[in-house]
Amino acid sequence: MSNFAQIFDAMRNTPMNDWVGGSDPETVGNASANVMRRLLPLNGNSKVLDFGCGIGRVLAALKKDGPDPKNIVGMDIMPPVIDFCNQHLKPNLTNTTFELVNDKNDHYDHFIETNAGKTREALSSQYQDYFTDGCAFSVFTHVTKHDFAGLLKFISSMMVPGGRFLMTCFELNEFSRYMIEHQQTIFPLANKAWWEGGQILVGDANDPLAFIAFDRSLVEKLVWDAGLAISKVEYGCWMGGGIGSSLQDVMICTKLPTLLEKDKIKFTPLVSREAIAGR
Ligand SMILES: C[S@@+](CC[C@H](N)C(=O)[O-])C[C@H]1O[C@@H](n2cnc3c(N)ncnc32)[C@H](O)[C@@H]1O
Repeated sequence: MSNFAQIFDAMRNTPMNDWVGGSDPETVGNASANVMRRLLPLNGNSKVLDFGCGIGRVLAALKKDGPDPKNIVGMDIMPPVIDFCNQHLKPNLTNTTFELVNDKNDHYDHFIETNAGKTREALSSQYQDYFTDGCAFSVFTHVTKHDFAGLLKFISSMMVPGGRFLMTCFELNEFSRYMIEHQQTIFPLANKAWWEGGQILVGDANDPLAFIAFDRSLVEKLVWDAGLAISKVEYGCWMGGGIGSSLQDVMICTKLPTLLEKDKIKFTPLVSREAIAGR
């Protein structure tokens, strides 16, 4: 039996798989890793951050079928999931480490008794401008606006200039708002509530961080305030109407790159319209 078969079996056998979303961990991991392969420029020199890694479904699936990055670091706030990763993944996967973050999240705090992890500040200086690529699957779908802003700044501080960070979220835009209004979304949102003048939607007012969606303009602002810019979006099928390949919306945020000298820019020459017209 390969290491990966053992790793995914250990995931199947732990109740923590349900803490991070449930379903078969290998299937979920494969789907997420495929999204990364398609949208991030990964190769053997990549240094990858898996932010909110949970039990490591995504990074294990990425390592299984490659490309095998130079380094992967998984970070999470729940001590039991980091213990699981250190016990089942770290000894079997090369160039893979895990960091416990000393942080809070109302949706996960009941799984945290004590947290002796590193602060955001400590990790930010340890990994300053380090990661070429990053991902956060199903993390920004469970955080407050305050944390959305703070976590993006934290993650951005650890990315190299020009580095790409993939996050999933639920975006409120004309289409998704229309579908929500007409009850077409694939989540029932039966007890939903609108916050901040309609800028934020929580799917269940009694458990706001189980599903939280943010207006596109708000996400753009929070991303930009963190020194990043949205450079690609793939919408998810959550909003109904048969669009999207993934469940959640996938956004690539690029950290603002170091600017080039004018003579280093490879310009694309424009076709002369006068020459075409034979003048
Ligand atoms: C729905 S789970 C997804 C786990 C993993 N990304 C996956 O797809 O299998 C969300 C994860 O985000 C983590 N998380 C939530 N808030 C966080 C924070 N402030 N910093 C780091 N991780 C956080 C949770 O502990 C949880 O493991």
